[in-house]
Amino acid sequence: MTAKATEILALNAFSGAEGGIRDPEVAALVERRKRTFGAASVLFYRQPLRIVRAEGANVYAASGRRYLDFYNNVPSVGHCHPVVVEAVSKQLAALNIHARYLHETVQDYAEKLLATFPRELSNIIFTCTGSEANDLALRIARKASGGTGFIVTEAAYHGNTAAVTEISPSSYKTGAPPPHVRTIAPPDPRRFRGQLGTGFAQAVRGAIAALKADGIRPAGLIVDTIFSSDGVFADPPGFLAEAVRSVRKAGGLFIADEVQPGFGRTGAGLWGFARHGVVPDIVTMGKPMGNGYPVAGLVTRPELLAAFAEDFGYFNTFAASPAAAAAGLAVLNVIEQDHLIENAATVGGRLRARLLDLGKRYPVISAVRGAGLYLAVEFSRGGDGERPAPDILSALIDGLYERGILIGAAGRYGNTLKVRPPLCVTAINADELVDAMAEILAAMEAAGRLPGSSV
Ligand SMILES: Cc1ncc(COP(=O)(O)O)c(C=O)c1O
Repeated sequence: MTAKATEILALNAFSGAEGGIRDPEVAALVERRKRTFGAASVLFYRQPLRIVRAEGANVYAASGRRYLDFYNNVPSVGHCHPVVVEAVSKQLAALNIHARYLHETVQDYAEKLLATFPRELSNIIFTCTGSEANDLALRIARKASGGTGFIVTEAAYHGNTAAVTEISPSSYKTGAPPPHVRTIAPPDPRRFRGQLGTGFAQAVRGAIAALKADGIRPAGLIVDTIFSSDGVFADPPGFLAEAVRSVRKAGGLFIADEVQPGFGRTGAGLWGFARHGVVPDIVTMGKPMGNGYPVAGLVTRPELLAAFAEDFGYFNTFAASPAAAAAGLAVLNVIEQDHLIENAATVGGRLRARLLDLGKRYPVISAVRGAGLYLAVEFSRGGDGERPAPDILSALIDGLYERGILIGAAGRYGNTLKVRPPLCVTAINADELVDAMAEILAAMEAAGRLPGSSV
């Protein structure tokens, strides 16, 4: 593999428009942004998008133009869903305060959410972000195992605190993770040649041995159970089980990061880990949990939490507030009432079938992967995945943007189209995406811009 690894925030990013920004109002806002946000500013697209409102799977620009959203998983039950908006608004107008008083909505939410997990995971801690949940998960795992070492995949992203950045190799622009963090290859079936479960577990055992050789005891294996930043690896269900057994045998914990696959996205129940038939020691979650209101948290076994609580108190000012609980409860209700898990399965299934068809027509599509409404379309020269083609994907993403569709890239080499819309997208929306992709690829082929094509 000769391609260069891409830092996660560089994917699809605005890095100065060739020929300038067309819309003078957008140009003025970009200038203001640069002056205030400085070097840390990250924007999408060469012609950045200025948006003003959204509903369902549609986002509207200041110009009034509609964009179909195939990128955003935070407004998971649909942008500005009226049930969530009403629940949060009513609660904000009545009371919003920290969690050291009793409140029925907070309790109702905790109980309803815990009821969706295996029985042993019966305690919950709320946070505001997935990063905070993962940070806490690392601390609980360290206490429970007596170790400090963590194993992660090579393009993992788990968040932005100091400790969590260390276990997020895709965040590194330079340098490498510290010695207590060992990376393993993502579970790409092509890499493990038909032995995915065993091969991935062997990689975990290799990382455990490497940690031990350096005198570091393993504390745990943490994975995003759909491996989104690695390029989306979902199949075959069950492949994680042997790796989980291996880390436990070495005294470590298994932490399932459900920030991406959780809350029904895979179309097979609420949680990604369940597809693998494993019960994690800790599950972390966030993003879609409050449909845009910051709600996140972790669930674990009571004894793990009790051990942690012997050493430290944990308080999070904004977490588990009545408004956060109202948002979270409304999201769970809407997932049920709007049959969103079923929608993820049916619309996701149709989308996957159509993308596979497109792949037959265009060999530059080297793989279509995923589950439910978390799909990935990989682009490479030669069609075997060995020579990533992020340039072709980037042109496709720009073309989709021109046609009014928002979407992004993933994977270590930025050559994987990440298809991750709100769960309320329809079959018509799925067709809009694939038709637009087909149009753009046909135009690229006609212009001799696809490998193997000539003008
Ligand atoms: C798998 C995964 N874990 C954790 C996080 C961190 O969540 P947050 O941005 O809410 O801190 C992210 C964010 O993208 C993520 O994708």
